Amino acid sequence: MKDSAKSVTPLAASSIPCTINGHEASLNVPPAKRLLHVLRDDLAMTGAKRSCEIGRCGACMVMVDGVPVNSCLTMAYQCSGKSITTIEGVSAQAGGIDPIQRAFLEEGGFQCGYCTPGMIISVKALLDHNPDPTSLEIEEALSGNICRCTGYGGIKRAVQKAIEWRKEAYESESIRD
Ligand code: FES
Ligand code: FES
Repeated sequence: MKDSAKSVTPLAASSIPCTINGHEASLNVPPAKRLLHVLRDDLAMTGAKRSCEIGRCGACMVMVDGVPVNSCLTMAYQCSGKSITTIEGVSAQAGGIDPIQRAFLEEGGFQCGYCTPGMIISVKALLDHNPDPTSLEIEEALSGNICRCTGYGGIKRAVQKAIEWRKEAYESESIRD
């Protein structure tokens, strides 16, 4: 081994304060560690999937401060002070299953399911900011999520059903208020 290789010292891990699925956390991570690896390998949150690891497929998508990001490209230190929501958090917030997840189930929005957590994160991020998106806006929101199984028909139907259900829920809440 060359001397120059021997002299490389790994940078020390540092403590990153953040919120994960509504719970305050402190992640002790080295500077080069990706968020996806922290979630899956350190925290056993395996909902975000490891696939291309170069930002092409969206299987690893999570929300950071409400914005969908590829966790395979996000350095953990970039999440300092931020709020991270994974697919586990989406289910927990809904008390078991989110209406978007139910719509995917009912409309056949998945086959192998590997892309589905990332798809649902992207749909949730879209609908939380824009409850009544156009078809073009839906396509744009899902442009970073690749599905190799479904042909997208079931996914599009699921998104439309989720939009309808969310509207109905909003209207019935408004009537109650
Ligand atoms: S695994 Fe992150 S985009 Fe494919
Ligand atoms: S359901 Fe298999 S990749 Fe989308």
